[in-house]
Amino acid sequence: MEPYRELNRSIKGKTAIITGAASGMGRATAHLFAREGANVVVTDLDQSKVDTVVSEINDAGINHVVGWALDVGDHDAIKDIVAKTADKFGGVDIIVNNAGFAHLVSFESEDYDVSWERSIRVMLTSHQWMVRAALPYLEKSSEGGRIVNVASTEGFGATPLNSPYVAAKHGVIGLTRAMAVELAPKGITANAICPGPIHTGITEGIQDDHKTIFAKRRVPMRRYGFPEEVANITLSCVLPAASYLNGQAIRVDGGQLSKNA
Ligand code: NAI
Repeated sequence: MEPYRELNRSIKGKTAIITGAASGMGRATAHLFAREGANVVVTDLDQSKVDTVVSEINDAGINHVVGWALDVGDHDAIKDIVAKTADKFGGVDIIVNNAGFAHLVSFESEDYDVSWERSIRVMLTSHQWMVRAALPYLEKSSEGGRIVNVASTEGFGATPLNSPYVAAKHGVIGLTRAMAVELAPKGITANAICPGPIHTGITEGIQDDHKTIFAKRRVPMRRYGFPEEVANITLSCVLPAASYLNGQAIRVDGGQLSKNA
């Protein structure tokens, strides 16, 4: 029999860029990756909010973290962040395309086109911009580059009045599969994380009783998830040991989409 293969379950020393990391799941992912020893580039729209997350992480005695403002709707800004990351840390090993927002809009709405364009640009187009900018570094990553794109349960079905978001998230799953098949020969894996209802900035405006009713009716765990419960699955996807996990759309939804009645 062949000897047991010991695979590396640490991201210590890897360099990760996380978008939308000033809040919610991006913030939790930044905290977790930093605690696991990765160099983390915390990015989000507002520099002061990014600075807050960096100082929270610094307060835990971790200093291999930087925070830079980035609007992922700006292609040139993405290229700059990737270049600055490579300058600072010597490469890029992990991308977490996480930035997103919610904006309900009906097909009859006057601002439909604005919502559509912004949703697709921020939550879909930006993913390929980031990956294409980072590709020269990801392919040089010593144990294989890792891409995680954050989709949603809205990547499998649809909630009314959410069509630009739904289209973007379905697109993220397709784009992730396309990245997975095309980049695998370069040793890079790409997977999508599909959260269900999670306590974050996006859902904080939903009344607590509505959250409870939804969760009890739709989610077998009967509650919203916490950002850390998603961040830990994201971590699992980017481990060097996750070398054969590729092209998956992983539901982190408390069983929501497995439930019929
Ligand atoms: P959040 O609101 O706490 O965090 C999202 C972050 O993205 C914010 O800090 C926001 O400033 C940032 N952002 C928005 N537009 C940006 C842009 N153009 N450039 C850079 N940053 C931008 O919300 P959450 O829930 O943590 O969102 C993270 C991801 O998870 C999003 O892609 C969202 O669609 C997805 N998601 C969230 C679910 C939930 O129930 N909270 C469920 C399924 C998916």
